[in-house]
Amino acid sequence: PFPIYRELREKTPVRYDEDRQSWDVFRYEDVHRILKDPATFSSRRGLEVRGETLLTMDQPKHTHMRNLVNKAFTPKAINDLAPRITSITNELLDQVASRGKMDIVYDLATPLPVIVIAELLGVPAKDRMLFKDWSDTMVKGVEDNTDTALAHMMAERDKAEAELVQYFLKILEERRKKPEDDLVSALLDAEIDGDKLQEQDILRFCILLLVAGNETTTNLITNATRLMTEQPAIQDQVRQQPELVKSMVEETLRYYPPIVAIGRVATQDVEIGGQLIREGQQVVSWVGAANRDPDKFDDPETFHTDRKPNAHMGFGFGIHFCLGAPLARLEAQIALEILLTRFTDIEFEKTSLTPIPSPFVFGVKSYPVTFRE
Ligand code: HEM
Repeated sequence: PFPIYRELREKTPVRYDEDRQSWDVFRYEDVHRILKDPATFSSRRGLEVRGETLLTMDQPKHTHMRNLVNKAFTPKAINDLAPRITSITNELLDQVASRGKMDIVYDLATPLPVIVIAELLGVPAKDRMLFKDWSDTMVKGVEDNTDTALAHMMAERDKAEAELVQYFLKILEERRKKPEDDLVSALLDAEIDGDKLQEQDILRFCILLLVAGNETTTNLITNATRLMTEQPAIQDQVRQQPELVKSMVEETLRYYPPIVAIGRVATQDVEIGGQLIREGQQVVSWVGAANRDPDKFDDPETFHTDRKPNAHMGFGFGIHFCLGAPLARLEAQIALEILLTRFTDIEFEKTSLTPIPSPFVFGVKSYPVTFRE
């Protein structure tokens, strides 16, 4: 979609899409302004029928909730996961090593974040498959856009969510009685001025983590691998200088961001790029376009493994900046480091690519590669 983003950014940087009944914003400066001003651009998108989450709250509620979950979702809690991320990655690669080929999506990028989040939440290993099925169903899109397919998907999703809620309720009860060293226990414990998280808030937050964190991290790991095979010079460069993996992950978030668009609703009439946006209208910020805006980035259409500075908005910006960014970065760095250390000559096994069928997401359903051990 990137050539199209470029054309739209140049020709109609702020435009109204009659079909989707929504504004589209493509320039870095304009997207930045929108995400920086949550009072004018609200996150209450009315998407969630089952009650709001952090992602769809406005201030001051958002601030309070975010401060509470931050107490549990600490940098230390995330960094402590590094040894586990390493061994899970190694186990996953053990299973394909002798084959000389693997599907990056299926064999590595999908299971890794699911297992990590399961462990972070305190889901025991025996329930992991159950948990994976539920998470998959929760984020699954529809293949064909017919009403029956849509209704079927919604029904499946509702069922998975209901089962997940039941499951987390059980874990919640257990941790209430006997706290463990996991996120659910920390969430139960979190307190600000005597105010604690309600059971419903914790349940909804746990489900948000699955929905917001799994597919996005899958796509980050896949998109980075894809870039290393589409442009072998990148692979050579990070092999020679492994310390560049970190900035390579950042540049992937700019160049192939897993989330390419972020939605808001105007709370009042406001002018952006010379266009008048009316109160109540939807506004879509195209991060995928903003991330390649030449007014912000030198040589924006070129992937620079060591780009500095790199103020991409792949994790959003402002008060809703991705809570899971440290975790996503850590998982991607470790996974790519190990992949590059264990396997050489990673090459795309040419087949046709199937994009994830959502205009807000940039990723593929499968990415087969060959390699040498
Ligand atoms: C918010 C992207 C991984 C949890 C966001 C937002 C973006 C984003 C763009 C802002 C949405 C908005 O402003 O409306 C990504 C990408 C990821 C990733 C590209 C992977 C590469 C994760 C992970 C988790 C997570 C691993 C948790 C385990 C969240 C949460 C929010 C959020 C809870 C809402 C924060 C708030 O509203 O205050 N993410 N995310 N994300 N993300 Fe991520």
